[in-house]
Amino acid sequence: MKMKRMFVWVAAVVMCGCMVELSASGQTSAHAVDAEGHQWWQHAVFYEIYPRSFADSNNDGVGDLKGITSKLDYLKDLGVDAIWITPCFPSPQVDFGYDVSDYENIDPMYGTLADFDELASDARKRNIRIILDFVVNHSSDQHPWFLDSKSSRTSAHRDWYMWHDGKGSGQPPNNWTSEFGGSAWKFDAATNQYYYHFFYAEQPDLNWHNPAVKNAMFDVTRWWYDRGVSGFRLDAVDTLFEDPKLRDNPDQPGTNAYGDPIQNRIYNTKLPEVHDVLRGLRQVADKSGAVLIGETWTKDVSELRQYYGDHSDELQMPMDLMFTKLNFSAPVFREHMAAVDGAGGWPVYVISNHDIVRSSDRYGDGEHNDQIAKVMAALYLTLRGTPIMYYGEEIGMKTTPPTRKEEVKDPIGQTGWPKEKGRDGERTPMQWDDSNNAGFSTASTTWLPVAADYTAKNVKAEEGDPNSLLNWHKQLIAMRKNNPTLRDGKMEMLDRNNPSVLSYVRAGVAGQPAMVVALNFTAEPQTITLDPRTAGVSGDTVHTLLTNASSLDHQSSLADITLPPYASWIGSLK
Ligand code: NOJ
Repeated sequence: MKMKRMFVWVAAVVMCGCMVELSASGQTSAHAVDAEGHQWWQHAVFYEIYPRSFADSNNDGVGDLKGITSKLDYLKDLGVDAIWITPCFPSPQVDFGYDVSDYENIDPMYGTLADFDELASDARKRNIRIILDFVVNHSSDQHPWFLDSKSSRTSAHRDWYMWHDGKGSGQPPNNWTSEFGGSAWKFDAATNQYYYHFFYAEQPDLNWHNPAVKNAMFDVTRWWYDRGVSGFRLDAVDTLFEDPKLRDNPDQPGTNAYGDPIQNRIYNTKLPEVHDVLRGLRQVADKSGAVLIGETWTKDVSELRQYYGDHSDELQMPMDLMFTKLNFSAPVFREHMAAVDGAGGWPVYVISNHDIVRSSDRYGDGEHNDQIAKVMAALYLTLRGTPIMYYGEEIGMKTTPPTRKEEVKDPIGQTGWPKEKGRDGERTPMQWDDSNNAGFSTASTTWLPVAADYTAKNVKAEEGDPNSLLNWHKQLIAMRKNNPTLRDGKMEMLDRNNPSVLSYVRAGVAGQPAMVVALNFTAEPQTITLDPRTAGVSGDTVHTLLTNASSLDHQSSLADITLPPYASWIGSLK
């Protein structure tokens, strides 16, 4: 079916104080709230950049900061308000930056501090904020702290990491396994002790029980706030603390991709002490008006709620990563969103990142992936909450995993092959145009190969196609920015027993009308009748604001609305 796009502009409502200019330092001041008391990050669209793969300015095959700077206009045009850059600090790159050897500098591969300052300043001119990735759980084994720690049992930094005697000859202190395969303990013959690493052995865990570690790490955040950073995404917060008694984790049936027994990690993840650290980091962040985003892999909404803090004094933005695990099904999303929306904090929706299969493949059925990607975009850009996009998601980039073990760059793909192919597939270079290397770099080879579909699927081609996924994102974001109801209006599910269509109402705010959203999750047309009164919202007629179904351009009734396959429709109530 030919889908015709339509976009009806909502009368632009400029909310008093909503668009706060960044100060010269890039920091947000205490008055960076709108008339209803919302903070800047509640209305922002965030965009995650994997710097190795975004844009390569010096043509060495690896992306860099100057590359990001060169794409700021693109990001602005898309409607991005804040970029989260995954670690760009000096690092041996064992885990592509998540092994930091200096927290207060830039890896030469990505540029210099001067390049960072230039990026921050150019971003500020466009009202785009910068969020850095703070690897709190561990450093690189090449960090001077660890080198000193390792040098002797009595070194000044010995207690900055977790050193323990083995259980007996050749036996690690307990049965804990690394997330990346094998024992989580590495023996160091020089000092005859083991050190603990939740991830690779090159990523020793910091000892957060040591106040010196806490002080040093808190200082790192201050250092970057002073340089104009607007917040941090906190890496792997679940893993900060371990049981001081080092009790064995209970084994579960079966083995993982690395052949290790599956464990219930009750003694080395999600320990309650993490909340003290989060409260402390928040106090520091609040002094600079900064935001803390959490990599929070929670099993349910009640766990997610804890990361906001009992007094909303921990993370402002714990990511709802459960969202990434849901099947593409209207009832499944209905139940989940209602629960997250009711959790008491400001929701943060994420559909992709650098560690998981791209959203296009995860929700897609292989046949209608581009249509499904439009439904997912319409969904998470019309919810009450902050969306975090992943680079390339806006053009429907797909996962391109290596086909041979020899091609794998991510070490977990080496260790776990073929069950675990690693994360290279979701980190391939951004597809800018149909020139060599998709316009990412003019190097003869790029650090990961460019996905084969780049000649058709790229920014330039999609910019020229009014029905493209990229233009659909731009329309959705523009509508969201200009519509207080979409940003802040209370959300209630409608037509709750419908197995095929997800619909909800957003109550009007700031004198603006209420809105309804209806998304067809199936490959068949679906006819619905919506009654917003069931959610306590009045309005009998409707006016289409945005749809990708031309048949709904002039929909005025809430009865018998026929949504073509995978159609999205957003209307304003009268
Ligand atoms: C989570 C990051 O997203 C991932 O890429 C990294 O490998 C681990 N934390 C370890 O830092």
